[in-house]
Amino acid sequence: MTSQLTLPRPDDWHLHLRDGAMLQAVLPESARDFARAIIMPNLVPPVVTSADAAAYHARILAALPEGMTFEPLMTLYLTEDTDPDDVAAAHASGLVKAVKLYPAGATTNSASGVRNFDRIRPVLERMADIGLPLCTHGEVTEDHIDIFDREAVFIDRVLDPIRKSTPGLRVVMEHITTRNAVDYVREDSSGQLGATITTHHLILNRNHILAGGIKPHYYCLPVAKREEHRLALRAAATSGDPRYFLGTDSAPHTDPNKLSSCGCAGCFTAPNTMPLLAHVFEEEQALDALAGFACENGPAFYGLPVNRETLTLTKQDSPVRFPEQIVTEDGPVTVFDPGFDIFWKVT
Ligand code: NCD
Ligand code: ZN
Repeated sequence: MTSQLTLPRPDDWHLHLRDGAMLQAVLPESARDFARAIIMPNLVPPVVTSADAAAYHARILAALPEGMTFEPLMTLYLTEDTDPDDVAAAHASGLVKAVKLYPAGATTNSASGVRNFDRIRPVLERMADIGLPLCTHGEVTEDHIDIFDREAVFIDRVLDPIRKSTPGLRVVMEHITTRNAVDYVREDSSGQLGATITTHHLILNRNHILAGGIKPHYYCLPVAKREEHRLALRAAATSGDPRYFLGTDSAPHTDPNKLSSCGCAGCFTAPNTMPLLAHVFEEEQALDALAGFACENGPAFYGLPVNRETLTLTKQDSPVRFPEQIVTEDGPVTVFDPGFDIFWKVT
């Protein structure tokens, strides 16, 4: 039985760090275990221009506690007014590693997202030319589309047409939650498609959110689906297929904002993601695939080196206790609790 695992230091290919007091409080929770992260741009107002990204990058580095190392990989929030030249300059300078597409209204702070996909065509074409990846929040937003179907419908009606009309565009399907998405990635032969999978979507199905009482801390977007989809995600993550990699989508909200009559979407998994993943991969008898998923496949997609430092996980004899909450000046933020004992610990 494996009781110790040493991996290259992992990266998080989808992370919400927020700003101000929240940034200050949550950044160390990621920087402790992760070397780099793709930083989501859905601030209020969003990170739209290269100047916004440079300023946010500086705020993140200023919030990093002394002695910690962490490299924020910045993204731009795609709007219908995004300037292709600004995007190209941000990429050429090395500051920006991806552009994020939020359909307008899809999730937290997405009001400035895209309504008319024809209007972003010039930006997408420039991105294809320069090799800059598009990260997609893959859900349609029409009221009449059932929330559990929004990812599958996005693939058919938005993603596939965009990819067909923009050959060469590198795309990351972010936080996939369905067998449909897993199949779409597997069947692709372009070499230009990847997908991130979160920690919590490997653990939760929709019963965990709704059966036996509503669990606001398990509510995130895209919402967790049926068990068959969770199993498809587990199979994909542990398959060794390099197109699937870790993006935690760790998305902190204060407890008052989660525990409300209209609660925010997001699971805060930064503090305990690596122990949870070791648990999941061990359950799937795939501990040897964890380095690929969390440490190697993401850098390969983004054309970056694998981290040279290492991270060691050790299996304990008794359950590991993680903090239930972290304290921020904005209020407490509850740490994701999988609902079962975890024996792995970063040591
Ligand atoms: C994210 C957030 O809170 O910013 N929430 C979430 O449930 N994942 C937004 C997002 O990535 O959809
Ligand atoms: Zn997210």
